[in-house]
Amino acid sequence: FQVKAPVNEPVKSYLPDSPEKAALKAELARQLANPVEIPLIIGGKEVRTEHKANIICPHNHNQVLGQYYIAGEKELLMAIEAAEAARAEWENMPWEHRATIFLKAADLLTGKYRAKLSASCMLGQSKNTFQSEIDVICELADFLRFNIYFTQEIYKQQPNNSDGVWNRVEYRALDGFVAAITPFNFAAIGGNLCTAPAMCGNTVLWKPSSTAVLANYYFMQILLEAGLPAGVINFVPCRGVDFGKVVVPHPKMAGFHFTGSTGVFNDIWKQVSQNIDNYVTYPRLVGETGGKDFIFAHESADVEALTCNIVLGAFEYQGQKCSAASRAYIPESLWPEVKTRLETEISKLKMGDVCDFTNLVNAVIDKKSFQNIKNYIDYVKESPDAEIIMGGDCDDSVGYFVEPTVIVAKTPTFKTMVEEIFGPVMTIYVYPNDKLDETLTACDTATSYALTGAVFAQDRAAIIKIAKALDHAAGNFYINDKPTGAVVGQQPFGGSRSSGTNDKAGSAINLYRWMNQRSIKETL
Ligand code: NAD
Ligand code: ALA
Repeated sequence: FQVKAPVNEPVKSYLPDSPEKAALKAELARQLANPVEIPLIIGGKEVRTEHKANIICPHNHNQVLGQYYIAGEKELLMAIEAAEAARAEWENMPWEHRATIFLKAADLLTGKYRAKLSASCMLGQSKNTFQSEIDVICELADFLRFNIYFTQEIYKQQPNNSDGVWNRVEYRALDGFVAAITPFNFAAIGGNLCTAPAMCGNTVLWKPSSTAVLANYYFMQILLEAGLPAGVINFVPCRGVDFGKVVVPHPKMAGFHFTGSTGVFNDIWKQVSQNIDNYVTYPRLVGETGGKDFIFAHESADVEALTCNIVLGAFEYQGQKCSAASRAYIPESLWPEVKTRLETEISKLKMGDVCDFTNLVNAVIDKKSFQNIKNYIDYVKESPDAEIIMGGDCDDSVGYFVEPTVIVAKTPTFKTMVEEIFGPVMTIYVYPNDKLDETLTACDTATSYALTGAVFAQDRAAIIKIAKALDHAAGNFYINDKPTGAVVGQQPFGGSRSSGTNDKAGSAINLYRWMNQRSIKETL
């Protein structure tokens, strides 16, 4: 059994008369007409509780896609028991058997269930066809296939021997269960955070985001169909506060795989520190958190490439990618042309329902997010230190729609230049050409985040200078490209500072965190 180095799952184009487009249309109609009921999955069994909530379409809040059950303390304890009961057998199962399950899941989701998964992500998370395809299909399949391959390559690594001594390393699972808490914005992240530890022999409690529960549940079903044994991954949508009360302080919590906002990860870290004397083993804390991602333009930049990438980087998926560009630094010599081109490009962006395939911009995820983004826009409308030059309208009468918005700030420390908004809002600081060094310092220090960033320049010396000045400002750094769209196996993804522990998603570094080496010396 040898897994070959994978290739990335090809992105389908969904051309008008293609079979995939027809299948997707039919599936969208089916899911809109048939609300689904989503149970918890604990120990391989469906569990229903007294509490449930609606799943709604962000682009039409009257459209209910179904209901999901919410785990309480009792069910979370059941899930821990199930994970612990499944642990020994799963950890000791030959790795090849574990690998086969995840590879089969990748084939099921890219084949038989492609339309179902994609439609659920479009409707539940308000993604257009392309955004859904690159998330819940291609990236999720890549996570599964590459992580299996990387695990195999790690397992091959063995220490040296000496005369009369046989040294070896066993790659055990952690000594307890892993908790995976996942965000709304990428269904693939949900699937990766629960499967990566499981590939290394761990059992998992998976708490998906309430606003990604539909696509995450369909993936959970695929894992079971692929042969995942009962109790290995337990699917428990629940309130954060219950998870914090029951799961985080549990003595057998051995690892925590999180993606979401910085504040929530910080709270969990504090809870872990308060319980540090109770754990059987030090929990591994892996978190990918917030960002304030930048585009830095030099006076030598190609203006067409720059503006095109500002638009894509800032407004694809409504600016709700953790990697989305939300601040830009433009030299004043380029600004008039950049501004004109931005006006032209942004005026072409059509906004609306995901089922109308001509809409490139859809709704933001929910009411809370809509209100948060609107508050920032309203703040700017009242401020003497910034001006909205494009967009700025927000309308939640049918769905949660926020127009792609461009703000020009007078200082590089203006509120919307430094705080994460997580919506289609780009703030630009136009800097004097002779203030490059000061502006680089501002870019590096104005926020505590360090997730993604990009430089646009044609002058090679300028690229080197800017890359060096910003060497700790982004875990993923792009030269003449937008700061979004990392591909598994090509650009391992993650940031540092307040953006996370930088245990790159979809890489060997991440997988090592879920392994517990036993080093054995045998004297012959
Ligand atoms: P969020 O922090 O609101 O929620 C993330 C998860 O944490 C959800 O499952 C949520 O229910 C849960 N949660 C919330 N409060 C909790 C608590 N007290 N205890 C336990 N769990 C709790 O984030 P979100 O809105 O889903 O996602 C957006 C955020 O995620 C942004 O800040 C974005 O930058 C970040 N993000 C980062 C990356 C990355 O790779 N760095 C990737 C995706 C998203
Ligand atoms: N991996 C995603 C991107 O790079 C977050 O956009």
